[in-house]
Amino acid sequence: MFNFDFYNPTRIFFGKDRLDVIDKNVPANANVLITFGGGSAKKSGLIDKVKANLGSRKVIEFGGIEPNPRYETLMKAVEVVRNENIDFIIAVGGGSVIDGTKFISLSSHYQGNATDLLKYGFTPITSEVIKKVVPFGVVLTLPATGSEMNSGAVVSYNHGKFPVMSEFSFPKFSILDPTITFTLPKTQVANGVIDAFVHTLEQYITFPVDAKVQDRMAEGILQTLIEIGTTTEAEPENYDARANLVWSATMALNGVIAVGVPQDWTTHMIGHELTALFGIDHGQTLAIIYPAVMNVCREQKHAKLVQYAQRVWNIATGTDDEKIDLAIQKTKDFFESLGVKTRLSDYGVTADKIPVVVEQLKAHGLTALSETGKVTLEVSQKILEQAF
Ligand code: NZQ
Ligand code: ZN
Repeated sequence: MFNFDFYNPTRIFFGKDRLDVIDKNVPANANVLITFGGGSAKKSGLIDKVKANLGSRKVIEFGGIEPNPRYETLMKAVEVVRNENIDFIIAVGGGSVIDGTKFISLSSHYQGNATDLLKYGFTPITSEVIKKVVPFGVVLTLPATGSEMNSGAVVSYNHGKFPVMSEFSFPKFSILDPTITFTLPKTQVANGVIDAFVHTLEQYITFPVDAKVQDRMAEGILQTLIEIGTTTEAEPENYDARANLVWSATMALNGVIAVGVPQDWTTHMIGHELTALFGIDHGQTLAIIYPAVMNVCREQKHAKLVQYAQRVWNIATGTDDEKIDLAIQKTKDFFESLGVKTRLSDYGVTADKIPVVVEQLKAHGLTALSETGKVTLEVSQKILEQAF
């Protein structure tokens, strides 16, 4: 196991009817900004419920944060924070609203041009750059990204998607009420299951470092998602199934299974380009790319792929290669069972666009991906061809 530091200060309130904790966890005299998306939280009455729990505090609403939140939209919210002396934000939404809020929080007191903050990639932005942030809490409406309990965000700018990391970007608290997610359309539930599944895989299928706890936890999350995936999609109001999806998604990317192990993220980086270029949903891009990554990178991932086949899919017979082939097929079948297509061509993208994706990877400096750095642009091209 590698050496590691671990820090996660986000307070979690899980379960039914938890909005009353807002009052105790937001400073009594705060000026509050509520951020939300295209309207689902307004329509369901959730925004009004959040407001009711803020009592007599001054509250301003900022809606319209779109999926794959755009820099320009977020800077409009920064203006509101500055003009209205906002000192606490509550993000009501999925990954896009939460990520957008993290960027608003980081940018509001930043002295320079906020596009600077898009240049750090996976390198955390430190107190040398950020002197003050606006603290924020979360009411989660979509289980998928883990953003409710991590310090990362992804911001869309200029035909690219830019990761932004900072230890100042952990939510102060997150309310995880599975019943709030009952209104999700099936496609978003499927996206969420796949996002959580692939987050887990990208921290698990690398090379072995004898991290037994992390491996068993990752396998537990994967098996839970396989067990409840189609049920929670077909029965949105099945509380137990949904509760297990919500906690799986949070656990998949809150840093716990990441400690002391190598990480991949090839699929996410290629997937972000597909979203930026063609507007394909984040979860769908992962269903397209991950099976191809397993196949193309089967040598560097050999031992963990065999472990995945044996322990997650209970494949006990055959040669190692047969086990890996079957595990890849079962992974694809699982994604397809959720109604999500697993080929690039299923989304109307033509083969002549593959070099365009590779160009974008190059433009964004993503030329040595994966746990080994061996996924060069040539290998990414191969992955995209396999995925086509
Ligand atoms: O905007 P509204 O009207 O609210 O509708 C949203 C949106 O259209 C809808 N929705 C959310 N909750 C709902 C609901 N509809 C009905 N009922 C509810 N309860 O769902 C749609 C998608 O929402 P979005 O927030 O975009 O989805 P998701 O949570 O999948 O977030 C995706 C974003 O997160 C980033 C992705 O790149 C993408 O930008 N990621 C963030 C990560 C992180 N911070 O750690 C890691 C991930 O890998 C990912 O990259
Ligand atoms: Zn993801």
